[in-house]
Amino acid sequence: MSKALIVFGSTTGNTENVSETVEKVLKDGGVDVTLKNAADVSAQGLAEGYDAVLFGCSTWGDDEVELQEDFIPLYEDLDKAGLSGKKVAVYGCGDSSYTHFCGAVDAIEEKSSELGAKIVGAPLKIDGDPDDGEVGDWAKLILADIA
Ligand SMILES: Cc1cc2nc3c(=O)[nH]c(=O)nc-3n(C[C@H](O)[C@H](O)[C@H](O)COP(=O)(O)O)c2cc1C
Repeated sequence: MSKALIVFGSTTGNTENVSETVEKVLKDGGVDVTLKNAADVSAQGLAEGYDAVLFGCSTWGDDEVELQEDFIPLYEDLDKAGLSGKKVAVYGCGDSSYTHFCGAVDAIEEKSSELGAKIVGAPLKIDGDPDDGEVGDWAKLILADIA
């Protein structure tokens, strides 16, 4: 059975809700899933023992991209997470009225890729309130890549 870790950073609960939907789809698809809040993890060895890691993070800030605050320490130490060779998918909530729509998603994907992760799927950027159907469809595509 494939093992996946989902780590999310969420201030108002949107990316947290999305993460729970993704968790359900992967579990229903037979993946052994662990869901963690970025506030509760440390980067050191984070990906150890997992085949795939999914990062969910909302975007804050105005002039420049700011990651959701709980995710920032993890992002800064991402090189310690052991992502090389791991499958990684990234998603997050944002608002397209801001200059850097879901900039956190792009930043995390780019850094993961630089660290040798195998990016799976297209990143999911959610504009406004999450739609369970959209999230479920995305998660099924990821499931096909990691199961
Ligand atoms: C002060 C502020 C700044 C924001 N900046 C951005 C931004 O730069 N880019 C973006 O896509 N969304 C931005 N947003 C929208 C949030 O990312 C969005 O509300 C999201 O759903 C929050 O998700 P969360 O509840 O998981 O934290 C901003 C929202 C606020 C209130």
